[in-house]
Amino acid sequence: MTNNRPRFAAIVFLLAPTLCLAWGEDGHRIVGEIASHYLSPCTEEAVKSLLGDQTLADVSTWADEIKSDRKWDWAKPLHYANVTPGSDSFDLDRDCPEVGCVVSAIERFSRVLRTSGAARFPQPTKKEQVEALKFLIHLVGDLHQPLHVSRARDRGGNDIAVEFFNNRTNLHSLWDSGLIRHTKKPWSEYAAELRAQVKGVKTRYPRTNGKVTEWATESYRLALSNAYDVPKDGKLGQASFDRNIPIVDERLKMAGVHLAALVQDRPYSPKSTLVSQLSTFVNGAQCGQ
Ligand code: ADE
Ligand code: ZN
Ligand code: ZN
Repeated sequence: MTNNRPRFAAIVFLLAPTLCLAWGEDGHRIVGEIASHYLSPCTEEAVKSLLGDQTLADVSTWADEIKSDRKWDWAKPLHYANVTPGSDSFDLDRDCPEVGCVVSAIERFSRVLRTSGAARFPQPTKKEQVEALKFLIHLVGDLHQPLHVSRARDRGGNDIAVEFFNNRTNLHSLWDSGLIRHTKKPWSEYAAELRAQVKGVKTRYPRTNGKVTEWATESYRLALSNAYDVPKDGKLGQASFDRNIPIVDERLKMAGVHLAALVQDRPYSPKSTLVSQLSTFVNGAQCGQ
């Protein structure tokens, strides 16, 4: 008999970084998949010129995958934001530190894509544009997870131990992935189901860019009203699942629609935004006007 323990330990060690992804991989894929259905053909083309054959869902987890590479350490604070205790809304000037936060990062990466179609020198390189788009796809997902805009003192629930159906986890992880996993739906089916519920996008989800701060405030309020509502013994089960899965569903839908709204203009905004300009850049003036 050989002793498999060291090998098992090594496998666990190697897998560890992939076991703690934000929103969980499925949440991010669902957001990317939903968004991909609300892009105009023009925007789709522009996105394809950056991502090749990879879908929005495929690249949605990249920003978490690179966390294990020290070269990307600077981007770690860009996955979340914390709100000053005592306030009930997110304030960019007050709450976003110098190193950046999820809200400023979304604005920053949007700007990289926007300026790639404009007369700006130096132009962002294609690599910079690809990275900006991949960050954007991921971070819009993170922004909509209530505990990604929450409290510094428990690191967005990471420091709050809970049991979910008798399995030990932490509150943050429960909201990233535990609730989604408990549905036992394959992510693509889950996305299709949610997409079928997104009706009348123009009237139900009229908000577009410039409203990133408001989306952050919505997350924060849901963190306070729902996510942090944990009994003293930390035990959560069916009642918590039933109360919170509709919130998770709603946030995934909104993230998908908001992501699509951010990367293109029509039909969400009368003003030309991000990828419409990117489209102009990539495809010439007829596309994206
Ligand atoms: N670390 C500190 N605060 C955090 C938050 N709100 N979400 C994720 N990670 C964090
Ligand atoms: Zn993340
Ligand atoms: Zn997370």
